Amino acid sequence: MKFLKTWCFLLYLIFYFSIMVKSFDTSPKIKTPPSSKWLEPYRIYITDVDLDAVLYQCNVPGEPSIPTILHPGGMVTWKFRKDLFGENKYDCSFAWLKKGTYELKTMAFNVFDEEVVKMCGWNLFEMNRCYWLVTQSGAYFSKRNETFLFVSDDNWRYMYEWK
Ligand SMILES: *[C@@H]1O[C@H](CO)[C@@H](O)[C@H](O)[C@H]1NC(C)=O
Repeated sequence: MKFLKTWCFLLYLIFYFSIMVKSFDTSPKIKTPPSSKWLEPYRIYITDVDLDAVLYQCNVPGEPSIPTILHPGGMVTWKFRKDLFGENKYDCSFAWLKKGTYELKTMAFNVFDEEVVKMCGWNLFEMNRCYWLVTQSGAYFSKRNETFLFVSDDNWRYMYEWK
């Protein structure tokens, strides 16, 4: 039964992304695409808080966009310099098979765009850090990595829900 469930899960994911999932066991590599412009350094962090397995795929220029699995505590990060004309936009898709159901939940949003910049900050000479958490209730954002108490608070802002 467990075996069957695992296969259903895999098939769902492959269908959803319409491409073969390359590897399930390797932990995600740190992605650092080439900097596009000088000034305004940024770093994105995406952490899986409490999802058994969440498949994510981010469109980061210069990187192959291969769906990859994150487990609880797993994190993906990359840094870049903000394009002076505000052209960089990184979007990610997430898929999660809710435990005990066969419901596939999905979420897709920009992890970096002009709106996110407003939340991350504009420091020209120090790294601006943008933290995203994916949890069973959805996605949270903060510009400081503080303890997450599973609710929206002064630090963590609730941004997106699963569809
Ligand atoms: C954020 O903070 C938590 C708790 O201190 C830590 O475990 C985690 O590694 C940090 N995440 C990042 C992306 O630095």
